[in-house]
Amino acid sequence: MTATVLGISGSPHRHGNTETLLDRFLEGAQAAGASVDKVVLKALQYSPCRGCNSCHKDGECIVKDDAIVLYERIMTSDCLAVASPIYTMGITAELKGFIDREQYLWAQKFILKTLYFSDDHIRRHKAIFISTAGLGWDNVFDGAFPVITALFNTVGFEYYDNIIANDLDRYGGIRQHPTAMNEAFEKGQKVVRGWKN
Ligand SMILES: Cc1cc2nc3c(=O)[nH]c(=O)nc-3n(C[C@H](O)[C@H](O)[C@H](O)COP(=O)(O)O)c2cc1C
Repeated sequence: MTATVLGISGSPHRHGNTETLLDRFLEGAQAAGASVDKVVLKALQYSPCRGCNSCHKDGECIVKDDAIVLYERIMTSDCLAVASPIYTMGITAELKGFIDREQYLWAQKFILKTLYFSDDHIRRHKAIFISTAGLGWDNVFDGAFPVITALFNTVGFEYYDNIIANDLDRYGGIRQHPTAMNEAFEKGQKVVRGWKN
């Protein structure tokens, strides 16, 4: 069986630090035999959650746009890599807007109780967070982790690992970072090999 790996780039900067690091991860996954695909949120058409709570009644989102199509793709992927740069100490507006749209799945799980993931399902679905930041602060990613955890929990994926590179202002970009590009390639290989076993 071939693992399907879906990469989602939440950076509005095409081929910048974050998407480049995501690409390297996907190259590693492909080298290990996975079928890989990448979606760039900036290229999609979706609106933020309206907070109408219509999904609380039937588990459906009344806004039928690209966000729903992408959630359907997530749910049929084996591995997920979600990437965002740090913008003002958190994830980008593009990614946060997309994550808020998962509310209909949250409603299915916790209000209607029509969606359930077994421990075995979660173990077989691995998710990775990829991020870059300009500052060298150790805590610069701390605002992003809880939101990413919430996303992975809702879609039934194990929060498997992070690939994070800070201090990029000093390094002058991700390609000059001493370890991140190799780490991304190796972790792409590792997650696919782990999935196969
Ligand atoms: C609007 C904006 C806000 C940013 N805020 C932060 C921040 O709070 N902390 C930080 O370390 N870097 C910050 N940065 C720098 C980016 O995180 C960094 O340059 C990142 O690698 C950019 O990735 P990209 O090329 O994918 O956009 C910010 C950059 C932008 C454009």
